[in-house]
Amino acid sequence: MEHKRKKISVIGAGFVGSTCAHWAAAKELGDVVLVDINEGVAKGKALDLYEASPVENFDARVMGTSNYKDTAGSDVVIITAGLPRKPGMSRDDLLATNAKIMREVCTGVREHSPQAVAIIVSNPLDAMAFVAKEVLNFPRERVIGMAGVLDSARFRSFIAEECQVSIRDVQAFVLGGHGDTMVPMPRHCSVGGVPLTEILSKEKIESLVQRTRNGGAEIVNLLKTGSAYYAPAASAVQMAESILRDQKRILPCAALLDGEYGVKDLFIGVLCKLGGRGMEKVYEVELNEVEKAGLQHSIGAVKELVQALKKLSL
Ligand code: NAI
Ligand code: 2OP
Repeated sequence: MEHKRKKISVIGAGFVGSTCAHWAAAKELGDVVLVDINEGVAKGKALDLYEASPVENFDARVMGTSNYKDTAGSDVVIITAGLPRKPGMSRDDLLATNAKIMREVCTGVREHSPQAVAIIVSNPLDAMAFVAKEVLNFPRERVIGMAGVLDSARFRSFIAEECQVSIRDVQAFVLGGHGDTMVPMPRHCSVGGVPLTEILSKEKIESLVQRTRNGGAEIVNLLKTGSAYYAPAASAVQMAESILRDQKRILPCAALLDGEYGVKDLFIGVLCKLGGRGMEKVYEVELNEVEKAGLQHSIGAVKELVQALKKLSL
């Protein structure tokens, strides 16, 4: 009986996209198509990665292209196309430039992979997911933004480092938008099942929360010429894996809310179940007053961003 491998298309063959292709192929999630407007870069990186397969022993075809026909019938599409912020560029410039790129990319994806689950990575994340949903016109189960897995991974690594324990024993998640207003949830963190609040002082926890909020900027300040890509790519691929293997992992993702937390029609970071159908369920977590206020503040920031987006003529 013929067995068809899963197909993953990664749009944007820059730092995040090519690293996504690397993790996805190494985990044998399926065959990988790497797409970029710069065809040579997409083809070159894909060929180079494929040539690593005999050494690393992974069975995955990897191809590069600038033609969406090659992405036809993808099961999952990870969208990383777009510019990172450059000196002198305002947030609105980035919003306008990346929104145009997102529209163009999603038009190609919709035409050739109408049944795919789309994982959006490009920034500003919560607004780009909104643009993607509009253009793709897929049900909300099949348009999901990546931010929470990354922000939570940062929080978890800082906690593990501080407590000097394995990252495997640290559970934590972050809610809200992907920006300064994100809401790390220390009350829901555990280290080997023990609440974090019983292990570290309030002040120490607050400093880890602040470092998490600043996690993206910390890397930009070190790199100077770009933003993070290893952890972002690993995070997007973890989401893809849960979908492609129907693992039903509970992961924080930007989902289009439909009344959860009192919000409609905005992508906000919430706990989701990811399985074969995509975003299969949103979990509403009971929040205390401080957490509620933090989340409301973050929702307000996302709302402002989407309002700025709607004012643009694209
Ligand atoms: P990069 O500059 O290395 O790669 C972007 C790629 O997109 C380039 O290769 C470029 O040629 C390509 N591209 C531009 N327009 C295109 C189009 N119309 N069609 C196809 N490809 C196109 O940037 P990097 O570091 O890979 O970041 C990509 C995006 O991901 C940025 O917007 C960045 O801010 C965002 N990001 C989001 C994270 C999150 O947590 N959601 C984390 C890390 C990055
Ligand atoms: C990050 O958090 C730039 O959004 C990206 O690293």
